[in-house]
Amino acid sequence: MRVAKRTRLWVTLMPVVSAATLMLGCNSAGKHANSMTEAAPDRVTQQATLKAPPIPEAGPLARPRSLRQVGVPDGATRAAIPPDNPQTAEKIVLGQMLFFDGRLSADGTVACSTCHDPDHAFTDRRPASIGIKGRVGQRNAPTILNALYNKTQFWDGRAKTLEEQAALPIVNSVEMGQPSLDAAVARIATIGEYQQGFSRVFGRPPNGPDLLRAIASYERTQLSFDSPFDHFIAGDKNAIDAAAKRGWELFNTRGRCNKCHALSEDKRDVTNFKDDDFHNIGIGIIRHNVVSLARQAEHLINSGDTAAIDRAAIQTDMSALGRFLITKKEPDIASFKTPNLRNVMVTGPYFHDGSQETLWDVNDHYNKGDGLKNPYLDQDIQPLALTEADIDDLVAFLASLTSADYKEQGIKELARQRELSRMKRPQRDTARAFGSKPLQPKPPLP
Ligand code: HEC
Ligand code: HEC
Repeated sequence: MRVAKRTRLWVTLMPVVSAATLMLGCNSAGKHANSMTEAAPDRVTQQATLKAPPIPEAGPLARPRSLRQVGVPDGATRAAIPPDNPQTAEKIVLGQMLFFDGRLSADGTVACSTCHDPDHAFTDRRPASIGIKGRVGQRNAPTILNALYNKTQFWDGRAKTLEEQAALPIVNSVEMGQPSLDAAVARIATIGEYQQGFSRVFGRPPNGPDLLRAIASYERTQLSFDSPFDHFIAGDKNAIDAAAKRGWELFNTRGRCNKCHALSEDKRDVTNFKDDDFHNIGIGIIRHNVVSLARQAEHLINSGDTAAIDRAAIQTDMSALGRFLITKKEPDIASFKTPNLRNVMVTGPYFHDGSQETLWDVNDHYNKGDGLKNPYLDQDIQPLALTEADIDDLVAFLASLTSADYKEQGIKELARQRELSRMKRPQRDTARAFGSKPLQPKPPLP
């Protein structure tokens, strides 16, 4: 029954979408300078470049994805489609055009795809994104693959839905730089293709809410499963190697990863590896005095001005406050959303600030229970006493979460990261990893 239902919906949709996609001229497999074989740019080159890359075109990896991939959660996928924005083939095509269109930005140079490039698993492979006029933000661009399953959007969850989310980058002055959503709509409304598209899909001229609906519909076609791990869970015992199997065990036991990267911490979550929650895991905490920042932020939060909070999160040091910027609750200081770990091999660098370059660095961070001197550190962060072999196994497991579409990139990136990790392990601290849990300082009095 379950399979039959799922198949029906997509079988009716797929041919229409692909045909329509071609018709609307999203044709060439656009490639641009940054190939996956090159090293991801570091902060220094990024600052020196000061120019957003050319807008990626909608190549083969931009296409809506099949619902029949091994591992797709049927119910959750259906539940992710809001009743007031049902998926239709033509709406998805319209959303795809908008996602790749620089004309949504103030000077025509930046599209959603600039920072969410399908050839890079819908990320930009930079620590922090470059937007309009080469402006650099504070945060790492997450993938939009499987974002349909997020209960909140952004690292701090400041948007609830994909529709709500899409409005913010358009008006953020370091991203797409429009003075208002209406300004973007006015630009789009001068283009014949869009006049016809909106009229066909929504039966009215271009307007803000419909524009956001179309983009969100396109994003909801980007489900990404069909990884070696999914085949393993589906019963193919040889789909992942012994190291990845040991890594999966560690993930759910001594590594304590499932405390957060699972919907229920006493279960094994094989779907999205997240808990729909926020935690302070000690990222970037040393570089910022979060307590004094929190004091400064309170006024801003009280204003309830969404665009101003978006600016603070993307453009100022207050970015480090994370979830606190939304809730103003002290324990949320420097808490960030637990990200889905699917395709993590090809979506680095890691964490909300893109501060870690390899999955070895990420594991070294957890292994030493980093976050000393951080009164808000999550209680589940503690020294793990993982050996080098354990860490290699965890990386092997994480690499097994790469979808078939990104298989080649995953292999190259794993090799690149392994090479890097042999040269430098900036986060490794074996003494701390095998030591006892340090005494956590108390939060300062209000
Ligand atoms: C200049 C780069 C840039 C542009 C342009 C951009 N984004 Fe993003 N995107 C980001 C960054 C950085 C974040 C994380 C910001 C944060 O969490 O505060 C993000 C977050 C998101 C998220 C949340 C994903 C998650 O897991 O929480 C979605 C969805 C998204 N962007 C979609 C879009 C759409 C749709 C557009 C076009 C309307 C767009 N982005 C334009 C950089 C960009
Ligand atoms: C206490 C909760 C918690 C535990 C335990 C935990 N994580 Fe995380 N994980 C998070 C949060 C929250 C983030 C995002 C933090 C940030 O960016 O500030 C994250 C980020 C990551 C990332 C970066 C993903 C990205 O897209 O940038 C990886 C990889 C990761 N975790 C793997 C692991 C592994 C492997 C373990 C076990 C060794 C683990 N996590 C244990 C909560 C947790």
